[in-house]
Amino acid sequence: MALVPKHIKQLSPYQAGKPIEEVQRELGLERIVKLASNENSLGPSSKVIEAVKKSLSENHRYPDPIGFELRNKLAEIYNLKLNNVVLGAGSEGIMSIIMRTFLLPTDEIVAATNSFIGFKVLANSSGIHTNWVKMNNYHYNLEAMADSINEYTKVIYLANPDNPTGTYFTINEFDAFMKKVPNRTIVILDEAYYEFAMDKDDYPDSMYYRYDNVITLRTFSKAYGLAGFRIGYGFGHEDLIGNLLKVKLPFEPSLSAQVAGLAALSDTEYLNKTLSVNNLGKEYLYFQLKKLGYYYIKTAANFITIVLNSPLEAENICFDLLKKGVIVRHLKGFGWPECIRVSIGSASENKFFIENLKIIQRA
Ligand SMILES: Cc1ncc(COP(=O)(O)O)c(C=O)c1O
Repeated sequence: MALVPKHIKQLSPYQAGKPIEEVQRELGLERIVKLASNENSLGPSSKVIEAVKKSLSENHRYPDPIGFELRNKLAEIYNLKLNNVVLGAGSEGIMSIIMRTFLLPTDEIVAATNSFIGFKVLANSSGIHTNWVKMNNYHYNLEAMADSINEYTKVIYLANPDNPTGTYFTINEFDAFMKKVPNRTIVILDEAYYEFAMDKDDYPDSMYYRYDNVITLRTFSKAYGLAGFRIGYGFGHEDLIGNLLKVKLPFEPSLSAQVAGLAALSDTEYLNKTLSVNNLGKEYLYFQLKKLGYYYIKTAANFITIVLNSPLEAENICFDLLKKGVIVRHLKGFGWPECIRVSIGSASENKFFIENLKIIQRA
């Protein structure tokens, strides 16, 4: 259709992990375990459910457009001002606001090839020229990314830890990189998996040393188990945040999402449980995968990427697991066709995955 711009025509629709209902409908299996979208196996905290239930009768009203309560709480926790905090419909929602706020058609983006697919979709649909920089052994190559900055570079996207590799770059690597980034360039530092990496001594928690041109993004979708609510937040210099607030849709995030986020922050027990379930699950999966002879990438997040011998083997494993009721992610769409990614689930989900992997291996 002549009405559609070329860069939009060229896009492929985003393919999310298969929903449980779809697999159940297609295969009629009794048990389906979804380990494809890095969700939290604990479900939402009971404090969140209680708070959201209480707020349901207020839903004939628009939500607070400035999201005061949740922003204020986040500012308090991180020792910031309200004006340093922005909310969005997931951290991806904020990424989209950043793209709409700061990029002009003549600007350029620098990002890593085969990192978070959500950003790739946003960059490709923006029509802005993007310099995609290859990774090095499943790690960001920050030196090569710095070398690709030019006079037009306006936005750089970094995910730390990265999805889908699960790897992270260190404080020293990030500091060395930032020395080469000009002040006129905005760095989106996507810390969607921050909570899973925060205990590492060399992880650059961007809240502890602020750069005026860095916007940190975090989310309630992963460690807080609220992916369905669509609520994320960002921190940055008040000039940057102030302009994002002008472009943000006024009533995003929804009332329930704001209430859910606030309640989730008060439930530290839930967060601790999430981290402990994830650590135990990670050790179990490492041990079992090694025993079965699979090569995996060590993760700083809530998922593990397994590197197979060929794209065909990766595709077959995903298909065979699906037939058994285990949904994992083939990373072909991410640009890693020889890899599959499995989210770390509950002990019982992890066991179900491993038991079925064993059956497939034997067949
Ligand atoms: C690196 C990364 N950033 C952002 C997101 C999106 O998170 P949200 O649900 O907050 O939009 C994801 C989700 O998978 C992710 O892996």
